[in-house]
Amino acid sequence: MDLTNASALVTGGAGGFGQATVRRLAQAGAKVVIADIHDERGQALAKELGNGSVYVRTDIMDENSIANAVQTAVGLGPLRAAVVVHGGPPAPGATGAARTVNREGQRIPLAHFAHTVNVYLVTAFAVTSQAAEAMAKNEPLDSNQRGVIINTASIAGFEGQPGQSGYSAAKGGIIGMTLTVARDLAPLGIRVMAIAPGTFLTLAYSGRMTDEQAQAHWGPSVPNPKRMGDPDEYARLAAHIVDNDFLNGTTFRLDGAQRF
Ligand SMILES: NC(=O)c1ccc[n+]([C@@H]2O[C@H](COP(=O)([O-])OP(=O)(O)OC[C@H]3O[C@@H](n4cnc5c(N)ncnc54)[C@H](O)[C@@H]3O)[C@@H](O)[C@H]2O)c1
Repeated sequence: MDLTNASALVTGGAGGFGQATVRRLAQAGAKVVIADIHDERGQALAKELGNGSVYVRTDIMDENSIANAVQTAVGLGPLRAAVVVHGGPPAPGATGAARTVNREGQRIPLAHFAHTVNVYLVTAFAVTSQAAEAMAKNEPLDSNQRGVIINTASIAGFEGQPGQSGYSAAKGGIIGMTLTVARDLAPLGIRVMAIAPGTFLTLAYSGRMTDEQAQAHWGPSVPNPKRMGDPDEYARLAAHIVDNDFLNGTTFRLDGAQRF
């Protein structure tokens, strides 16, 4: 998929994976919509790139806000790539990971489970379907290709940890829908892929501890290389998926052979 004169959309574009991906897609020739709620980081990145990429404040929990980001991208050029890599708000009242039934014998509130699935799965489908609707209007390139969408799963979608029922259900849902949506969109020439990252040193970690502390805690659980992933390793894979028209309908693990 050639991104010359095209636009791209990155939800969570001001985040760890997001920023690295925005840079790679801009290098590949796209004007990128950086869709996020972190105004400062988003605006700084758009300024740094200086290639016509823009920050668009986008709340992933709001369909109209997603629509605004998609339409802004279409205004910059045909939308040919969407990378869905946002985080989201914690469930109100939640205090971190919670087992299905905790040590006090109480079950997790259904609203917490539903919220997590909403944040990581329903919103991903919302972006996927809206981006696909816009891509369907593109002139096709070689081999009838109109666009490509990359969602972000997690190794927790294969091997969830205790307390991750909602998160692993959501990420497993991304893995499950990838082939189905790729089949749905095949007649339109739109590819759908997912990346399932292992443990990466993004802002999600560095906000809570120093990089050295994060590496010391998480690095040893990765067989080889023995460190956390670098967000640019995610971004390089995303850029390759965009570039390689024969990749479709599957999820790639990107985890240094990490298994729990
Ligand atoms: N970091 C990891 O090790 C890892 C591993 C597997 C999967 N993931 C997945 O990668 C994705 C991105 O995570 P990350 O590690 O880059 O985190 P991050 O915290 O670095 O970035 C997340 C971004 O999402 C934005 N965001 C939060 N709420 C939003 C909202 N309501 N609307 C729009 N944007 C919002 C944040 O402002 C932030 O810029 C998530 O789906 C996460 O589950 C991360």
